[in-house]
Amino acid sequence: MKIVSTIEQVKNLVNQWKSAGQTIGFVPTMGFLHEGHGSLITSARQQNEKVVVSIFVNPLQFGPTEDYDSYPHDIERDRQICEELGADVIFHPTPEEMYPKDFYTYVDMSGLTEGLCGDSRPGHFRGVCTVVNKLFNIVQPNRAYFGQKDAQQLAIIKQMATDLNMNVEVIGCPIIREEDGLAKSSRNAYLSSEERKAAQIVSKAIFAGEELVKSGEIDAEKIVTTMKNIVDSEPLAKVEYVNVVDGLTLKPVATIKPQTLVAMAVHIGKTRLIDNFIVE
Ligand code: PAJ
Repeated sequence: MKIVSTIEQVKNLVNQWKSAGQTIGFVPTMGFLHEGHGSLITSARQQNEKVVVSIFVNPLQFGPTEDYDSYPHDIERDRQICEELGADVIFHPTPEEMYPKDFYTYVDMSGLTEGLCGDSRPGHFRGVCTVVNKLFNIVQPNRAYFGQKDAQQLAIIKQMATDLNMNVEVIGCPIIREEDGLAKSSRNAYLSSEERKAAQIVSKAIFAGEELVKSGEIDAEKIVTTMKNIVDSEPLAKVEYVNVVDGLTLKPVATIKPQTLVAMAVHIGKTRLIDNFIVE
């Protein structure tokens, strides 16, 4: 497996693969990989001849008070994980490689980027769409893999690929969890041991919401209230939002139906955690 840091190196490899008729699976990440990322790489490995993983902490998607400077990294460990899972190449560019001095073009989506995480993270999805668009142009994947954990991001990337007629199939993959239910996240590394215990409350609320729906509850308001009350029972946890929305349009819905997305963001100390479930 190779690690490359320039766009030209990736493009050269991609050209070789394309002229040999090989398919490319792509997994964009910000590194500090865990089994959630791993599951995407494994799917990419199974479905494509070549697999590219990008590791790039994208400055454009972080707000001024967010954790860009402290975002965790361990490229050596990431390299081992990618190697073990059978990736062919890691693309690990510098910020200057991705955003040279004269950079003026941004991908700005409306609609889906409002609400949920968009409300508290203005500009975040503009940064995500811009970097993913660039990465797609560099890697030219046949298929690209995204986690359901970031449900709004997944919906937005699918929409972007459709709206801009991109030649890529965007594939959503299920949420991978710790044994106690906490959704795996690079940001879990920020939690102190006390906060880590408290963080269980997030998935507890998700599972309780899911159970309510399975038992036949269709009133979104009731589900939101139950989930909020569960989180509020944990003194270290603060709900940012619990929203019930259409899984495709991300518009709020009052009544649960198949493909409804129930999503939440919770703060545990300084760490912001997100989780969700989709109604079957
Ligand atoms: P990052 O947070 O590193 O996540 C990379 C991919 O891994 C995303 O598609 C995310 O949804 C997925 N992922 C993270 N935790 C997961 C879990 N527990 N189960 C399943 N999938 C999980 O998301 C980003 O990076 C960035 O915004 C990026 C798309 C790379 C653009 O910069």
